[in-house]
Amino acid sequence: TGTGGSTGATGTYPEENITFVVPFSAGGPTDTVTRMIAEPMAAKLGGKIVVQNVEGAGGTVGAGEVARAEPDGYTVLMHHIGMSTAPALYQNLDYKPLEDFETIGLVTEVPMTIVARKDFQPSTLQDLVTYVKANADKVTLANAGIGAASHLCGLLFQTAVGVKLQEVPYEGTGPALTDLVGGQVDFMCDQTTNTTGQISAGEVKAYAVTTPERVKSLPDVPTTTEAGLPQLQVSVWHGLYAPKGTPQDVVAKLSEALKVALADQKVIDQMAKLGTAPVPAESATPQAHRAKLEEQLGTWAKVIADAGVKAAS
Ligand code: MLT
Repeated sequence: TGTGGSTGATGTYPEENITFVVPFSAGGPTDTVTRMIAEPMAAKLGGKIVVQNVEGAGGTVGAGEVARAEPDGYTVLMHHIGMSTAPALYQNLDYKPLEDFETIGLVTEVPMTIVARKDFQPSTLQDLVTYVKANADKVTLANAGIGAASHLCGLLFQTAVGVKLQEVPYEGTGPALTDLVGGQVDFMCDQTTNTTGQISAGEVKAYAVTTPERVKSLPDVPTTTEAGLPQLQVSVWHGLYAPKGTPQDVVAKLSEALKVALADQKVIDQMAKLGTAPVPAESATPQAHRAKLEEQLGTWAKVIADAGVKAAS
């Protein structure tokens, strides 16, 4: 039609509030990172960004909703590594990562931590391995649903150790961490952006970080390699997506605003406190993001197939 409004001329974008969909619970790691960048992005765009949590099924409910949203730049998805694992984990996923979205740019890569309720018996990662082997029928492992980062990390853990544990799914690791602190579940794998506060406060026990290097904000927590489980390596990359067909100049504006947000000293400081950092500017582009997504889809399809995981319906 071209007469303005949300699907017409894009030169004046944004003319209304932009919704950033977070496919997990409020207060969790994806939500935290999204809220950090939303404000400086909105300032750069000259509009308002509203964060909306559309949780369920390991992030696939929110992603599916954005895939089907109007491609007008007013619905944007923040998603993470789960965008590249879900196709291998679900038989009937209702979206295709490479075909149904425009990539906007990468945001951050977050280390994971293996954390337990503070009175859980094992005191080191090696103890944990021994303990879960001996008690596989009673140990509970929390995650944010099939396709979540916590689910993937839990799979890698169980594969490395050779056990099958009882998994307790939540709609995000925000509520899972609450239950871990409360002692309702035994342990989980979760991002430093969620666990740093509780680890530092001694509210949960941390066994290891899943990155090659220690995390600066958690200097006492060993790496999985140091702690004897070098196979367990994963960091949780995040990116912003728009529905396929969103005008290229709108995607470019969002990508520019993302770059500005990632260079914001307040964002850099907030991320550093939680064990992470913005990606370099050259990664906050549609091209770099798409290349990463393509590579990760291949990597995880193979890892998940090799682990003998059966896809859910
Ligand atoms: C969340 O925001 O709750 C997490 O990213 C969930 C996860 O993927 O483990």
